Amino acid sequence: MNLAFIGIGQVGAALAGSLVALGHTVTIAARDPGSKSVTEAVARFPHLAVASPEDAIAAAEVIFLATPFATVEAALANGDRFAGKVLIDCTNPVGSNLTHGLNSERSGSEFVQSLVPQARVVKAFTICGVENFEDNTYPGYGDLKPAMLMAGDDAEAKQVVATLCQELGWEPVDTGPISTALHLEHMTLLWIKMARVQGAGAGFVWARLQR
Ligand SMILES: NC(=O)c1ccc[n+]([C@@H]2O[C@H](COP(=O)([O-])OP(=O)(O)OC[C@H]3O[C@@H](n4cnc5c(N)ncnc54)[C@H](OP(=O)(O)O)[C@@H]3O)[C@@H](O)[C@H]2O)c1
Repeated sequence: MNLAFIGIGQVGAALAGSLVALGHTVTIAARDPGSKSVTEAVARFPHLAVASPEDAIAAAEVIFLATPFATVEAALANGDRFAGKVLIDCTNPVGSNLTHGLNSERSGSEFVQSLVPQARVVKAFTICGVENFEDNTYPGYGDLKPAMLMAGDDAEAKQVVATLCQELGWEPVDTGPISTALHLEHMTLLWIKMARVQGAGAGFVWARLQR
């Protein structure tokens, strides 16, 4: 697929590098092609392409949004250009003392969707730390894969994201409409609290047992 990344820091680079290795065409939508995050990502993954945000977004079928939540309005300016695109929202609104950045009144993904009403927003790749985007292998669990929970209003877009999740070694779990993203964002806060505050470390993920 033709994929673009807005934000190519820790999360963006980890996902983009894995997707380019799987054979996708992955382009960084670069505000500044000479920035540290862009040059470091390309040095690490030389098959990543770099283009202006306008060109990268126009060519992409799927766009990953992997910027700090505070910058999503700037990153999604001129929202019309996202019309019809699948936009994977990898951002997390994190407030002070690990509270929800929008006071749990509305999910960050609903805010993102409101900025680009014609895009097909799916929240995914958020519920655990970037260490697990670098390496999501957990030996010893047989066929059980780590779960990647997603939320969004467009069923077809979620199917596209589910396929990408599977290619990357996750079990995709559709949790429902975009409003459910609020619960995923709280799940993320829980992961951060356990891993980074309480000392469990980053080497754990969520999984689903089903009967
Ligand atoms: N770190 C984690 O463990 C983790 C896990 C899951 C989800 N997340 C979420 O993923 C998002 C990214 O986190 P990260 O750790 O990857 O952050 P990061 O390493 O700081 O990278 C942020 C990226 O966003 C770019 N950026 C900043 N403002 C922008 C704008 N206005 N337009 C376009 N690009 C912009 C930065 O570019 P420059 O270098 O040019 O400034 C950089 O490439 C956050 O919302 C975070 O909550 C993080």
